Amino acid sequence: MEKALLLHIGIGRAPQDDEIQEFKALAVSAGVSVSEELIVKRSKPTPDLYIGKGKAEELKDRALNCSIELVLVSQTLSASQERNLEKVLGLKVLDRNGLILDIFAQRARTFEGKLQVEIAQLEHLAARLIKGWTHLERQKGGIGLRGPGETQLETDRRLIGHRIKSLKNRLDRLEKQREMSRRERRRAKAMTIALVGYTNVGKTTLFNLLSRSNKDGKDKLFATLDPTIRRFPVVSKNDILLVDTVGFVRDLPHQLIAAFKSTLTETREASLLLHIIDASDPHRADRRREVEKVLHDIGAGDIPCVHVHNKSDKSIETRIDGNLGGLGINKFLVSAKTGDGLDKLKEEIKIRCFGESISGKIDLRPNQSKLRAKLFSLSAVTSEKPNKFGGWTLNIILPNDYLEELSLEVGVFDNIIRKRDINNELG
Ligand code: GTP
Repeated sequence: MEKALLLHIGIGRAPQDDEIQEFKALAVSAGVSVSEELIVKRSKPTPDLYIGKGKAEELKDRALNCSIELVLVSQTLSASQERNLEKVLGLKVLDRNGLILDIFAQRARTFEGKLQVEIAQLEHLAARLIKGWTHLERQKGGIGLRGPGETQLETDRRLIGHRIKSLKNRLDRLEKQREMSRRERRRAKAMTIALVGYTNVGKTTLFNLLSRSNKDGKDKLFATLDPTIRRFPVVSKNDILLVDTVGFVRDLPHQLIAAFKSTLTETREASLLLHIIDASDPHRADRRREVEKVLHDIGAGDIPCVHVHNKSDKSIETRIDGNLGGLGINKFLVSAKTGDGLDKLKEEIKIRCFGESISGKIDLRPNQSKLRAKLFSLSAVTSEKPNKFGGWTLNIILPNDYLEELSLEVGVFDNIIRKRDINNELG
């Protein structure tokens, strides 16, 4: 693990506590060990070092005393500011964008995700590389010396340019394939539910539980980068698909938002959003607004949305006031860790997707074993016992769209309990 010094810079005001904590969490997520932190307030950045010369010297001393290997700066530096700071400190310097890019690079898992990260990294690097060579070019200028410097610079530019172009072509092809599968899903009338939310709120953990898959949830920011799609197990003719998306973070660099366009496209195409919020996070209201802003920016602001307050096991307020200010059909309190509240959420998802759901009791005769097998294969049976006809009495629960089909086969249901009709409730 590299030993890092974090430089928290506030412009026009001291950096706020939550910004400091968030930047620290980003650094830990990238896998560095945070040994020192320095808080700096400036009225405006200086063009050469971002911070003043005096502060840079102080930083150098602190870094030297603690055998620091890396300095992480909480703001976005220009290529020359980053280079100048590196020169003064004699250490590697990484700004916020570089840090986020590094985390993204470590986490990308699918081919598509890796391509997207590489493009973003090369674009980030290109600005820095080219400026570096411009500098050399000037130094080496003059008759006789111009050739090699310029050639090298142009070669580097061309190589990076070619690489970016070929990666983008490959990405375009993948995007076309993805669009085709989206079209197929639309044709099959599959509904898509996207899990969105600030980073580290528990999207992947909930995604696992809801889809019963084994994708890891790690205590690291941005554990999820690639749009991962799984089936939500439900009794239905049409599938419900769950999409786990990239975690949002305040001031996510714009080139990264563009880089993760495909994840965001999945979000924009969803029929329902589950906005996951960390109920134990004191800054959850601000973060909720940040996420809503991004959703609005990417054109997903009007999609029906359910707020899912996760980590109820951890939240002190939840334990004190019980419900975070009133739960309802748009607001659920769950714990992905203990499983609390998940049944209600699942029920809500089904109702949102299929409207009314029916539960009741049916009597089957011995010659209806095919129907019985079908109900079991749909996981519609909650309990069964033998009946007086030598068949079975089943308690079942299933979505409305199966009712007609089944009543043709079985006749009338006993004790049908109609669950609330969400369409009426939503007007
Ligand atoms: P990104 O991929 O960074 O966007 O994160 P995420 O939102 O997918 O979060 P993830 O599922 O990776 O969970 C982050 C951390 O929170 C993990 O350490 C989980 O174990 C933990 N976590 C998730 N849900 C709960 C919960 O209900 N209670 C508690 N106590 N911890 C939880």
